[in-house]
Amino acid sequence: MRHPRALQTRLIRESIDRLKAQDPPLAAGSVEASARRYSDTDWLSRETGTIFRNEPQYLGLAGEIPDAGDYMTRELPGVSLLAVRGKDQQIRAFRNRCRHRGTRVAEGEGKARRFTCPYHAWTYGLDGILASVPEACHFDTVEPGVDGLCPVPILEWAGMLFFLPPGTDEATARARLHPIVSELEGFDFHAYRSRRTFSTGKPTNWKLGVDTFLEAYHVPVLHARTIGRTLVGGFALYEPLQPHARLVAPRRPILDLTEEQITSDPLHRHAIIVYRIFPNTVIVSMETHAEIHRFNPVQGQPNRMTWDLTVAASPLGQSLDIDWDRILDLAAGVVEREDLVMMAQIQANLDSEGPESTVTFGRNEPALQDFHAEIDQAMGEPEPLRRPEEGLPAALAAR
Ligand code: FES
Ligand SMILES: [Fe+2]
Repeated sequence: MRHPRALQTRLIRESIDRLKAQDPPLAAGSVEASARRYSDTDWLSRETGTIFRNEPQYLGLAGEIPDAGDYMTRELPGVSLLAVRGKDQQIRAFRNRCRHRGTRVAEGEGKARRFTCPYHAWTYGLDGILASVPEACHFDTVEPGVDGLCPVPILEWAGMLFFLPPGTDEATARARLHPIVSELEGFDFHAYRSRRTFSTGKPTNWKLGVDTFLEAYHVPVLHARTIGRTLVGGFALYEPLQPHARLVAPRRPILDLTEEQITSDPLHRHAIIVYRIFPNTVIVSMETHAEIHRFNPVQGQPNRMTWDLTVAASPLGQSLDIDWDRILDLAAGVVEREDLVMMAQIQANLDSEGPESTVTFGRNEPALQDFHAEIDQAMGEPEPLRRPEEGLPAALAAR
């Protein structure tokens, strides 16, 4: 399925109309949110015990492992995963955990004919089955050819791989992902190929990583010398695709498009499209490539996260002579040297201020309000944050 033409035209036209009318999408009111959601250990353990136990989680692109023997590893909250494409072209995922005593059998990503554990050299095939055990006579409870790595369920859809935690069945996962993946199906992600990856730890809550992508208010200020030069200042179209969302940040020339361009050009020629996939993934889609960010919680430490970034080339990007080191440096650099510097300062303040502290999500930050309301709902919070489209409480409306 192609990205529906009608949707692209609608989003280009709506961007132009709203920009001309100075009418950005707004929430009903601003929201004060407790800092506990960023700094409280109990809050984090409830998130990992609900959201990260029950929701499908983006793992990577199938195009990161396009050929038999290609593999990638991922650290997800509470589980270390290995995904590998078999000789039959099927992608399978396993716990990255040796059947012997629990060492990781693979690191990073690459190509393998088999996986040999670095500790005592137990060896597994691409299908995860234990192929050989040195001095096997000492292991009468283990059966090579039968035992192996522990398989974990994944879902491949629209060229994307999702991990299904133990509390999730495939039908539920599909229903949960449908609002966004049915749209992403039109983007040819199955044909994207990974060009660069990057992973690091940061001293912030995982949600602060997601937050940086959910409003354009900061772009003309914090990013004045980088991406702020090419984007229309402070403006983003936002639509919830619950529990996910889409933002469209137009580039400056969008106001000069002809009717023919509006009805025939790809949307991401004239805008950056940001897809937030619940709970912790952000896809920044451009014409030549996508930057895919995952912000993972660190168990027991609300003020730490790990951040993975994959730069994947679109079919157009693959046909051009692009300096991918430069693209990765731009993508990672803006987030690391600009956004995450702010986030680390926020986290430090919230940590020292304690649970009574609050942060504010403005009317011009509806996607932030929506994300945090989704978190609250998925956690079963008794008093979830107000949705951006919900009316103001009477006391505030009277002000
Ligand atoms: S832990 Fe893997 S072979 Fe011993
Ligand atoms: Fe930013």
